[in-house]
Amino acid sequence: MRRFPTFCPTMPNTQRKILVTSALPYANGPIHIGHLVEYIQTDIWVRFQKMCGHQCVYVCADDAHGTPIMLRAQQEGIAPEVLIERVGAEHRADFAAFAIEFDNYHSTHSNENRELAELIYRRLDAAGHITSRTIRQAYDPEKNMFLPDRFIKGDCPRCGSPDQYGDSCEVCGATYAPTDLKNAVSAISGAKPVEKESDHYFFKLADFAPMLKQWTHGKHLQEQVANKLDEWFAVGLQEWDISRDAPYFGFEIPERPGKYFYVWLDAPIGYLASLKNLCDRNGMDFDAYTRQDSDIELYHFIGKDIIYFHALFWPAMLEGAGLRKPTAIFAHGFLTVNGQKMSKSRGTFIKAHTYLDHLNPEYLRYYFATKLSGRIDDLDLNFDDFTQRINADLVGKLVNIASRCAGFISKRCAGKLAPALDDKALWDFCVAGGTAIAEYYETREYGRAVRDVMAMADRANQYIDDKQPWVVAKNTGSDAELQAICTMGLNLFRLLMIYLKPVLPTLAVKAEAFLNVAPFAWTDSSKPLLNHTIEAFTPLMTRVEPDKVAAMLAASTEELKQVTTMQPSNTATAAGPLTDDPVRPPVSYDDFAKLDLRIARIIKAQHVAGADKLLQLTLDIGGETRNVFAGIKSAYAPESLAGRLTVMVANLEPRKMRFGVSEGMVLAAGPGGGDLWLIQPDNGAQPGMRVK
Ligand code: MSP
Ligand code: ZN
Repeated sequence: MRRFPTFCPTMPNTQRKILVTSALPYANGPIHIGHLVEYIQTDIWVRFQKMCGHQCVYVCADDAHGTPIMLRAQQEGIAPEVLIERVGAEHRADFAAFAIEFDNYHSTHSNENRELAELIYRRLDAAGHITSRTIRQAYDPEKNMFLPDRFIKGDCPRCGSPDQYGDSCEVCGATYAPTDLKNAVSAISGAKPVEKESDHYFFKLADFAPMLKQWTHGKHLQEQVANKLDEWFAVGLQEWDISRDAPYFGFEIPERPGKYFYVWLDAPIGYLASLKNLCDRNGMDFDAYTRQDSDIELYHFIGKDIIYFHALFWPAMLEGAGLRKPTAIFAHGFLTVNGQKMSKSRGTFIKAHTYLDHLNPEYLRYYFATKLSGRIDDLDLNFDDFTQRINADLVGKLVNIASRCAGFISKRCAGKLAPALDDKALWDFCVAGGTAIAEYYETREYGRAVRDVMAMADRANQYIDDKQPWVVAKNTGSDAELQAICTMGLNLFRLLMIYLKPVLPTLAVKAEAFLNVAPFAWTDSSKPLLNHTIEAFTPLMTRVEPDKVAAMLAASTEELKQVTTMQPSNTATAAGPLTDDPVRPPVSYDDFAKLDLRIARIIKAQHVAGADKLLQLTLDIGGETRNVFAGIKSAYAPESLAGRLTVMVANLEPRKMRFGVSEGMVLAAGPGGGDLWLIQPDNGAQPGMRVK
């Protein structure tokens, strides 16, 4: 299939057959730099396997189903099919710009996926793994639909904090059923939800407990992940609710009119649907990939927030349907930016598209590679570090090797490389190092791979410093001597470019053109390039300009202001919902005038034992003091607040919380968490003054 001879650090002379996937991005939002951690990580791995001559197929798709996508389409006044088509095209364009090269990119809203979902469901059902029962669930009487937990808001049943989602409290961390919320409202219509009964279908996960216990400790998962799963086994495997009531955007369950597959049932099946679509178009044998005794390796790259679905539900579904299970699941951590969760208001919620407007995508590929490992720890993108790292490593070290040597070869040696290497020992050292680098790629220790390559780049630059070709060129030496030095330098450059090609495919293509060679394969690293004519050198990569980074961050902040309506995300992720409140309906002036807003001085602010997000504030509103619990702990240190003026709602009904009674509310702006800003009046305002 490929013209490269095979090489693999673990299996020499064997051509492996491998199927690789990345998680399917939701079709209701743009690709952002957090997503890119995953797609870049996977793409580097796939490119490495292909360079080794293995038969590796990389498939992905858009995850097109679910309530958020349905509601977003309604909001935009278009059919969901139109929405997912548009977003799908945007996703493809973003991936292509970052050189993420799928062998196929499909959609879960496809015929292949419908057929496979029905097939798997029918097999599970026939084997007795599906059960049904009636459940009571919150229902929006205005929208006439059942409400997913994330679409219900109300007061936390434990601590009483207002405006909490239906599944967990952001203030005290409690988790609960949405029916436990007090003063609950629908986040879609604002109506008070009613409880309604409905028949639901469940997948009996516990049927697979023995298999799963064994499988999760059978080298299919990272150790950190297997340990996490043990905690879930200890709690017990619950039945999984796989049905949703109409209206829902998804696939109707066979013989169950009005009931739809929950988005997470058909999402992983989407991996197989994308493969099926590829096989059908290219005459490949789909069954060879999916049958239980398949000899093809299967790897799923995912983020740590979706381990439960991939390491428990998915292997159980496959087992129950008589299909092969994954060889391994590779989970990665979450991206933080400048040390914090990506945040719209800080301008660090950076869309792939916004990045591309300002910076070279290969900078990000390289930077993520330096940070990636085989573990699930989070990784941080710090923009000062990013700028410094790219400029020092890629421009200052790597490309510099070529630019220091190329001119002499063109001008003094008619573009021709020498017949022998000047420093065989150094060459052998760098060739030998390739084995460890390959092993690092294989085990996703990209940070180590890159570090080894950069150590070699230092040696190469040191060699050039020692030989001083510019001095040789000017006076002392012969053209042959100059040719020997620059041939050595360019061969080291070529070798390092081979090693870095999985990370920097676009730069590698430029290097191939400059060196006038066929696309690099991993085995090319063993043979030097001698007696060979190269092309003239053109600059391969430019430095990161700090003002471009600043412009990108500014543009990301600017985009925030244009966002008018947002919805809760499709699932509660480890990163939490990246959402803003829905637009509220107009209120009459009379209603507005009912609020008693007062200037307040914060006399004291202190931590509250047992509350993750709350500070206890003592407020002076002109002779009267109030006790208020405010969810601002992640945004403010208590000592920074004492003495400060702010605005409070003074006539809010006192609210009894676990920690005491809260007598009002302070006003703050922002999406929440660390992104909150207290409203502060101009100088001259006095505590107790009415705000109007
Ligand atoms: N649609 C589901 C996946 C279904 S797979 C059968 C989903 N989509 S997602 O768009 O929310 O996320 C896609 C992938 O990107 C997930 O693996 C997720 O973990 C990853 N990431 C999303 N935000 C991320 C960061 N901030 N950092 C690193 N990875 C992140 O989940
Ligand atoms: Zn709470």
